[in-house]
Amino acid sequence: MDKALLSKTAAAMVAKGKGILAADESSGTCEKRFQSVSVECTEENRRAYRQLLFGAPGVEQFLSGVILFDETARQKANDGTPFPQYLAKKGIIPGIKVDKGLADLPLAPKGEKVSEGLDGLSKRLDEYFKMGCRFAKWRSVITIGEGIPTHACLYANAHVLARYAAACQAANIVPMIEPEVLLDGTHSAERSEEVHEATLRAVYAAIAAYGVIPELLILKTSMVVSGKDNPRQAGVDEVAERTLRVLKRTVPAAQPGIVFLSGGQSDEAATAHLSAMAAAKNPWPLTFSYSRALQNPALNTWRGQAGNVAAAQKAFAHRAHMNALACQGKWKPELEKQAA
Ligand code: 13P
Repeated sequence: MDKALLSKTAAAMVAKGKGILAADESSGTCEKRFQSVSVECTEENRRAYRQLLFGAPGVEQFLSGVILFDETARQKANDGTPFPQYLAKKGIIPGIKVDKGLADLPLAPKGEKVSEGLDGLSKRLDEYFKMGCRFAKWRSVITIGEGIPTHACLYANAHVLARYAAACQAANIVPMIEPEVLLDGTHSAERSEEVHEATLRAVYAAIAAYGVIPELLILKTSMVVSGKDNPRQAGVDEVAERTLRVLKRTVPAAQPGIVFLSGGQSDEAATAHLSAMAAAKNPWPLTFSYSRALQNPALNTWRGQAGNVAAAQKAFAHRAHMNALACQGKWKPELEKQAA
């Protein structure tokens, strides 16, 4: 294990004033996103859309890394450079999604899932390293509902996350472990806090059990928000307070940083929550690793039209800029209005 390389990569992923673009939507998820703006989900359209994002002028000031899907990591930019090298040349670290999606957890209540992809993982990681990828994401999903999550669901997902993280470190790739607690449902923010705490406790127990080194690991977590169908929505300060309390209780201070997913929050809520948390005194740097909350305006502006590319890139760079301010605790709502 090249600990110096892993440590350097992890520190660069959470460098001050930068965050990560999650552009690792599977072809199925991409299809859903493209359908919403009436774009045909062809391989070339997926490539052209990623080119739009990665090639947005100036965006490298705000991005430390990009998470790629396998297909994109094998595609080329307009100038013929494979995307991982294209990003690296801009000073952006290429990362890769390595889980193979979700499966029903056998014998568990309906809706409980476990992520797949451990078989053959070490071999795939060696190939991704050769392709230039220096970190890898694995997403597990925890659903809150009547009688769920079960202990079995937390346990199974914690163990796959820890086993993948160990395989990554052995392959000199920084693991970005993503146990996402979904915001779907009618639950309260208090219930979300409880489930986040139980989830992260299980994850870090497994991390320790498999000998994964916390100093060489990035956590990608959801925020503690109210269920999206709960009429009482926790405000920005409450979300920040609950999320930071859980993280301080469960995540080792030795870890180099924590990044957040946006999970279906509005673009501005994701930015406001991050800014409130980053403004506090924390044991780790906090930043974004958003997909939807960074890409929504770009996708809605692009709509598959070559003539809209420049405007879409501007919209994307703006969200990246706002979140780059937020990860330093410096975002304010007025900044959105000034730019609009
Ligand atoms: P969202 O920010 O859209 O939740 O996506 C982040 C991600 O990487 C999900 O795996």
